[in-house]
Amino acid sequence: MKKFLKRFLIIVSSLVVLIAIIAFIGWSYIKSSFLTFEKDYAENRTIKELTIEGYTFLDRNGNDQLDDYEDDRKSSDVRVADLLSQMTMEEKIHLLKGSGMASGVGMNEPGQGIPGAVGTIVPTPRLGIPTVYLSDGPAGLRIQPTREGEDRTYYCTAFPIATLLASTWNETLVQEVGNAMGNEALEYGIDVILGPGANIHRNPLCGRNFEYYSEDPVLTGNIGAAMVNGIERNGIGTSLKHYVANNQETERNLNNVIISERALREIYLKGFEIVVKKSQPWTIMSSYNKVNGTYTSESEYLLTDVLRNDWGFEGLVMTDWFGGRNAAAQISAGNDLLEPGTKKQWDALLEAHEKGELTEETIDRSVSRILRLVLKTKKMGNLAYGNNPNLEAHAKTTRQSASEGMVLLKNNNSLPLLDTKNIALLGITSYNFIAGGTGSGDVNEAYTISLEQGLMNAGFEINETAKRVYKSHREANQETFQQAEGIDAMFNPYAPIEMAFTAEQLKEIVESSDVGILTIGRNAGEGGDRVEEDDFLLKQSEKEMISNTAKAFQAAGKKLIVVLNIGGVIETASWKDIPDAILLAWQGGQEGGNSVADILSGKVNPSGKLPMTFPMNLDDHASNANFPQEGGHLSYTDLISGLLFGKEDRPEAEKVQNRDYTKYDEGIYVGYRHFDQANLEVSYPFGYGLSYTDFEFSEVEVSVEDNMITAVVRVQNTGQVAGKEVVQVYTEKLKSTIDRPIQELKAFAKTGLLEPGAFEHLTLKIPVSELRYWDGKSGDWALEKGAYRVRIGTSSRDIRQMAEIVL
Ligand code: BGC
Repeated sequence: MKKFLKRFLIIVSSLVVLIAIIAFIGWSYIKSSFLTFEKDYAENRTIKELTIEGYTFLDRNGNDQLDDYEDDRKSSDVRVADLLSQMTMEEKIHLLKGSGMASGVGMNEPGQGIPGAVGTIVPTPRLGIPTVYLSDGPAGLRIQPTREGEDRTYYCTAFPIATLLASTWNETLVQEVGNAMGNEALEYGIDVILGPGANIHRNPLCGRNFEYYSEDPVLTGNIGAAMVNGIERNGIGTSLKHYVANNQETERNLNNVIISERALREIYLKGFEIVVKKSQPWTIMSSYNKVNGTYTSESEYLLTDVLRNDWGFEGLVMTDWFGGRNAAAQISAGNDLLEPGTKKQWDALLEAHEKGELTEETIDRSVSRILRLVLKTKKMGNLAYGNNPNLEAHAKTTRQSASEGMVLLKNNNSLPLLDTKNIALLGITSYNFIAGGTGSGDVNEAYTISLEQGLMNAGFEINETAKRVYKSHREANQETFQQAEGIDAMFNPYAPIEMAFTAEQLKEIVESSDVGILTIGRNAGEGGDRVEEDDFLLKQSEKEMISNTAKAFQAAGKKLIVVLNIGGVIETASWKDIPDAILLAWQGGQEGGNSVADILSGKVNPSGKLPMTFPMNLDDHASNANFPQEGGHLSYTDLISGLLFGKEDRPEAEKVQNRDYTKYDEGIYVGYRHFDQANLEVSYPFGYGLSYTDFEFSEVEVSVEDNMITAVVRVQNTGQVAGKEVVQVYTEKLKSTIDRPIQELKAFAKTGLLEPGAFEHLTLKIPVSELRYWDGKSGDWALEKGAYRVRIGTSSRDIRQMAEIVL
């Protein structure tokens, strides 16, 4: 027995030692490959100021002379050329990849770097070139809010999700939001914000749709450009992402998108094209997926032919984090910077150069684009950032922008809430409002205003009985209410159990309140797609709650209002007749509850319009036949094994449709383009949204001159309260000889706040070239001659005025 025990103990202790050794080797490997592998490249922070012939500059290389690159009176061409001539090949190659993930995963030494920044452009210490910091993302800056050894905090503002911002159809307002985001980056020392996202909502189930604007490229492009211009006004860069056709999270690192060039050009690239042409973002982020067999980050066609040669993009392209496979192929294709950078990539680039596969000319091309960006940053000016953004002012910006993007879907004389004192809040989300989506698009905000708080701030009373039911439900199901933060949320989706009311509780609630507000919540994000059951479709518990509570309130002559606190489209057709009003609140950032209260109370008149269609059924989307339906989230093990071993393509015979590859068989028929063409009924059409007032469109004049179509529309507020209205201009080719959508959005504009009776003339311009289609045969854009109808509407299915033009 003793012998056996001894042997057993020896085996166990050997195993423990073995595991410890493996763990140690594993950790050392992760550390040296992904976290800290920069060796002699620590930033040189002791740069002297010199004055020569009356000009004061930073003597970056310490040679006591004024070099061209140190002279910021010189053009960037001259400065970059000088730097290139002074850099060694090793320094150049070093610059092509970031410094790894240490700061992104909170591993900075105290006082070093910017905790939470997910990437860098590395420094060149010998020449005094500083580190440039990159961080997410589309709904506001994401850095770590606390730092080791410091009492103070570094919170950022959680602005509304991108989809909500697109629902404002208001470029000026989106610029203001961008301006505030950019200011936070400036204040916290971040040089480039990794956003906005310009991918198209191809299907409602894409988990990251909340980070993207719309199913339509013209809305996407114009709102995206406004965001880029707003952020970059601060001298901060943006990274327009994820270029391109990154429309699903399922197997995003392997997925091969099989798509026609026409669909690419007219739908998926178009939004990016508009942003590039209207705002020249500093950078673009290539996506994880492949397009027609080639990783986007290795595609010369996408990165050089289309982006640079066709559109004139002047900035740099970076990969998505750990995206793509072959470092040398990426640089050769025009993907200048590999983020966050690994030791393996560094070695691969050196080796490719040594073998002559990566020429000096190609390396110089990417290095100059990177240097051009570095020269533009505030870091070059040695700016000591203040770490002190005006969070209070930004809270006002986010509150106002969120209320402007909320869409009133239904209103049976129920809103605004006049003569209302006591509100019964139903549904767990009313108390636990969702500010935004999960993953890298999440923000570390200081607080989130719930709907409950927002209504109290607006002077309403919250019904105690309903709240009591919520509280005891929450206590009984505590574990399901645990909400993971930041990146953790990617792996642990938030899925609390919905509440239910007994008949008796409901009776008491209805008797003691004036109105019921029921919130439906959904939370999705990076690393997983949504599913139809219990997500796109309401859960059984939600359906029952809507019908039971509506019945109870309506039987007592009171109203039931549904608020949708969601990040993507859900099914509405089967239940929308039940409540008295429906407000699509989206996810409005940290002030979300206040913004909803502003609309419910009538302080703000809703003017948001849908940036996508709400279909009758998920299946009505043409893309649904070719979209993964299984959902499923990335796990930590997937992530780590993917990083360590890379994800290998499965053998051809084992490839699974919608995972390894996805066929975009619907071509250009995405969103309303498909619903119109197939003559399908929809629940709420693209462009739709109600107001508390009415508008009339008149005096429409459409003219064509110098290849520019100009539409002038008079919009008058004919109702009782002040409000804003969106004018949408669609074009239709009459008697077209090719297969093309019935109508396509070409321009939009929003009025200012119009008082009752007031009017405004809006002028909308469309270059004739924007009416072209992509001709697959000639591989170019082509204009069909003949008659076009210009359709002016307040939604894609509410066309108020039409005019004809002949081209
Ligand atoms: C996301 C990017 C993000 C990057 C850095 C990636 O996983 O796809 O959108 O910018 O991480 O956080």
